[in-house]
Amino acid sequence: MTTTTTAVLASPLKINKLEIKNRIILGPMAVLRPTDDGRPSEQTIAFLTRRAKGGVGLIIVGGSVASERAWNESPFSPNVRFDKDEFVPDLKRLTDAVHAYGTPVFAQLFPSFGRMGVPRNGNWLSSASPTPVDLGAGSLPENLYIPGGRVTPVPKEATIGEIKELEAAVVSAARRAKAAGFDGVEIGAHMCYFYSSFLSPLANQRTDKYGGSAENRARALHDVVAAVRAEVGSDYPVGIRMSVNDHMPNGQGPEGFSEVAAHIVKAGVDFISLSEGNYESMGENVTSISGNMLAHGEPQAFRKAVGSDVRLFLSSTPDPRQAAEAIEAGHVDASMLARQMLADPDYAVKVTEGREREIVWCDNANSCLRRLILNVPVACHKNPEMGREDTGATQSSLVQNAIVWATGNRTLMTLADKLARMNQK
Ligand SMILES: Cc1cc2nc3c(=O)[nH]c(=O)nc-3n(C[C@H](O)[C@H](O)[C@H](O)COP(=O)(O)O)c2cc1C
Ligand code: SF4
Repeated sequence: MTTTTTAVLASPLKINKLEIKNRIILGPMAVLRPTDDGRPSEQTIAFLTRRAKGGVGLIIVGGSVASERAWNESPFSPNVRFDKDEFVPDLKRLTDAVHAYGTPVFAQLFPSFGRMGVPRNGNWLSSASPTPVDLGAGSLPENLYIPGGRVTPVPKEATIGEIKELEAAVVSAARRAKAAGFDGVEIGAHMCYFYSSFLSPLANQRTDKYGGSAENRARALHDVVAAVRAEVGSDYPVGIRMSVNDHMPNGQGPEGFSEVAAHIVKAGVDFISLSEGNYESMGENVTSISGNMLAHGEPQAFRKAVGSDVRLFLSSTPDPRQAAEAIEAGHVDASMLARQMLADPDYAVKVTEGREREIVWCDNANSCLRRLILNVPVACHKNPEMGREDTGATQSSLVQNAIVWATGNRTLMTLADKLARMNQK
């Protein structure tokens, strides 16, 4: 690793009025094991503070819900809740603990899960249009198999009343995040979740003011950003996480997504966390190739469309040299990492101190992802401490571990796929 790479990644960055000490961000991950009623647990706090201690410039808390609807339909429950005032004191405990390391922390807010929700208790799913998700139809991550395939239930087209109801929920959640000491908020609009499905014609066939042109497809997200901005004030960091490419036949590419983004940022967006692919093209999202996005030209298209005032967070680029070069070239402003931060909580301090040789590399074998999908406590086989940062944290059972192993085994899963498809005939 050259001194230039180290210097670039160790340099501070301003996001609105907030300055973060370096360019390495802990990306949002629903690995936090909150309590069953949605409050940060000792493990939630221990996981996050361990990464703060490891030197990240910013932490984004993932898998957190902004509405009761999101709480009820979540595919990865329990989640950290922002949907009621009663959760604020517990959320404050989380931010105080992270701030003790001098690290800022943002809240990721899911309005609802849209097409990826689980319809429980007689409730229905609501999305831009009644388009289900054919999971992994385009591509799947390494060692992830869906025997027989899976198509999600058909959602209903969201009414304007529902769009406005969720907007109000996100505004209230942002108010609570600020009251609890979070330094900024990120509105989730990626991976086929509620706002994501408005952005691309692949999932949005509406004929009203929320469908059709790029401006119309941007409207739901634009309006929620504007409403959140009005609530939290001009100095508070507000961002979005959005898809940059459908990676599907007839899908939208980076030019289309960045055109939509250019409309949304007018509402007062400080940063965009770039998210690759969608659930149909999961293999692109949870990729094994460092610099995947840069190779596709997606950050470059976004920079051209939104300008340099909007901070862009690159995903899936653990190679420090690639990340530093992209920052130097002006394509992005920071490197946001997920799995690499599970495998090595000290990645940031090692990179910023030029100790690359000591990094424990994520192997992209994705047992963490299978655990998430199976609703088993997330652990990382490269880092025995992960998931046990709090010594009292619940661990997966031997049976659960065996299922995690079996569902990643190619021979078994090929057989399971054949059997499932025979049964479907
Ligand atoms: C276990 C696990 C949990 C995740 N949870 C979230 C989440 O809550 N919110 C989110 O936006 N992305 C989530 N992601 C996606 C990651 O943030 C990231 O986009 C993806 O893993 C690709 O980045 P990486 O190559 O750095 O891992 C999750 C990924 C994993 C593996
Ligand atoms: S289990 Fe650990 S090493 Fe394997 S993909 Fe997940 S983070 Fe990487």
